[in-house]
Amino acid sequence: MCVIKIKNVYKSFKKDKPVLKNINLNIEKGEMVGLIGPSGSGKSTLLRLLGGFEVIDPVTDSEIEMLGQLTQNNGKKTSCCRQSHQYIGIIFQQFNLVGRLRLLTNVLIGRLGKIPSWKGTLGFFPKEDKIKALEALERVNMVDFAFQRASTLSGGQQQRGAIARVLAQESKIILADEPIASLDPASSDRVMNHLVNINRTDKTTIIVSLHQFEVAKTRCERIVALKDGEIIYDGSPQNISKEDLINLYGVESADALYA
Ligand SMILES: Nc1ncnc2c1ncn2[C@@H]1O[C@H](COP(=O)(O)OP(=O)(O)O)[C@@H](O)[C@H]1O
Ligand SMILES: [Mg+2]
Repeated sequence: MCVIKIKNVYKSFKKDKPVLKNINLNIEKGEMVGLIGPSGSGKSTLLRLLGGFEVIDPVTDSEIEMLGQLTQNNGKKTSCCRQSHQYIGIIFQQFNLVGRLRLLTNVLIGRLGKIPSWKGTLGFFPKEDKIKALEALERVNMVDFAFQRASTLSGGQQQRGAIARVLAQESKIILADEPIASLDPASSDRVMNHLVNINRTDKTTIIVSLHQFEVAKTRCERIVALKDGEIIYDGSPQNISKEDLINLYGVESADALYA
């Protein structure tokens, strides 16, 4: 089943200067896709379009479908776009937890789409939701920190909290935008282990943008490479050529990467 369908998508912020060009991509349920490409190649913009934070250009026959529902076409969001937030979990480079709130409360925010809004607004989370949030924290080994303010946690711990939040949300699709870019190597490993584990165990479809090709190569079964807003490679990490890497990262980096 195709859970993400991107057809003929362009995105410009300035007239006639598209930062994404002719993007066509079908992603199947349970895939773990590594989105790579140099800075400015359009990775975040693509993820933001899928998350419904940006609108595609009004190009004939262009569309985005998430879980079989049309969320954007021909330059407009559809009525399904808002609903799609319920099942799309987003993870950012900067963790995006509310620092003054306890970690558990941050994770419960992931459940807000699932309970009557007045309860959530008043901070009355039903017991079942608290249990779900604690279970999510348990999965990322963060349950001991449930009652600590998010701002007192390390970057790696906050990112694991952000993963717990998308778990509590019961996301069917996770979009992670450079989730390890601000982390040290050990914390990066832990965060990537959790994402891979969620992908394998829950069959959650994951697109993760990564700065480092080595990480994408070892953690993702499919690589999509962007350069100047165009897809220049889509396939398994094994088949990417040295020319592709030179094209993406320049000669010296490619030599080191193509071992
Ligand atoms: N809100 C915006 N307004 C104007 N230009 C933007 C905006 N967001 C991104 N861009 C431009 O789009 C291009 C792609 O950016 P981005 O998607 O952030 O790339 P990446 O995540 O691969 O580094 C860049 O040239 C960037 O300057
Ligand atoms: Mg980016």
